[in-house]
Amino acid sequence: MKKVVVARKLLPAGERLLQGRFEVCSGGLDAGRDVLLELVPGAAAVVADPTVAIDQQVLAAAGDDLELIANFAVGYDNVDLDACQRSGVLLTNTPGVLTDATAELALGLTLAAARQIPAAELQLRAGSWSGWDPSDYRGSELSGATFGVVGMGRIGLRYAELISGFGGDLLYTSRSAVDRSEERLPGRRVGLEELLRESDVVSLHLAASRENKHLINRESIAMMKPQSILVNTARGSLVDADALAEALREGRLGAVGLDVFENEPGVPESLRNAPRAVLTPHIGSATYRARDAMAELTARNVISVLEGNGPLTPVSTG
Ligand code: GLV
Repeated sequence: MKKVVVARKLLPAGERLLQGRFEVCSGGLDAGRDVLLELVPGAAAVVADPTVAIDQQVLAAAGDDLELIANFAVGYDNVDLDACQRSGVLLTNTPGVLTDATAELALGLTLAAARQIPAAELQLRAGSWSGWDPSDYRGSELSGATFGVVGMGRIGLRYAELISGFGGDLLYTSRSAVDRSEERLPGRRVGLEELLRESDVVSLHLAASRENKHLINRESIAMMKPQSILVNTARGSLVDADALAEALREGRLGAVGLDVFENEPGVPESLRNAPRAVLTPHIGSATYRARDAMAELTARNVISVLEGNGPLTPVSTG
């Protein structure tokens, strides 16, 4: 039986498909790198997730039997693509099945940030609400707002569809030559700078790469409208968190809704203490439907590759 190592945890919807077909070893949720390095020798496939760094050392420890890294996530910035390519190891991810879940969380963060819902609720829970105050918690209205979607992939497009009900304008950046939003949405493809200058809400939907680290930094924040809202459900590395916290404190940015952070589970104190910041613990895909579908697609990739039928949702490593 081929050996499949689950670096941390695969949900039952995926794990039950592997049991019986392969020898499955799971590190468990708390497993760190040392456990992974102990488990991987002889593995034919490793199931990773966004918290598990897959690099040359892991591939070398696994050895020549390793055929596949199956990432239990759509993002794969935790994986060294060059190392996979050099070792001839395939990589798969879970596109498509978490699109709705993640776009819906981005919408939730947009609303929560615009109206400061968590801070208002906390005040009430703390028993410190002293009554209706016409100047309390005034926020931004989304109806008629200009939305800027950075990265018009599957999730960006779904977010754009969801916010179309607000009846405002849509600006977006997109890498692909094909304008995927054209048939589905009226919107204008622009450069990042124009998007940042014009938008009332900026939502990030890009895959993280070395090139776009801190895409949102002091300079780009300075281009944004002082009342604007930034939402990030993509990856923490896209944003310079300290620059963001500083802009919030100094009133140069309206509000933020963030689900992802550069060094998770660490969240910089500057951000935790910043005003008008809604922060959630990387729950973009955390719906019953999406997480089960991700686990199942991860397992189906493992089965397909290890049974010689090739990857279902490959990531190009070249
Ligand atoms: C989660 O962060 C994912 O990339 O699926």
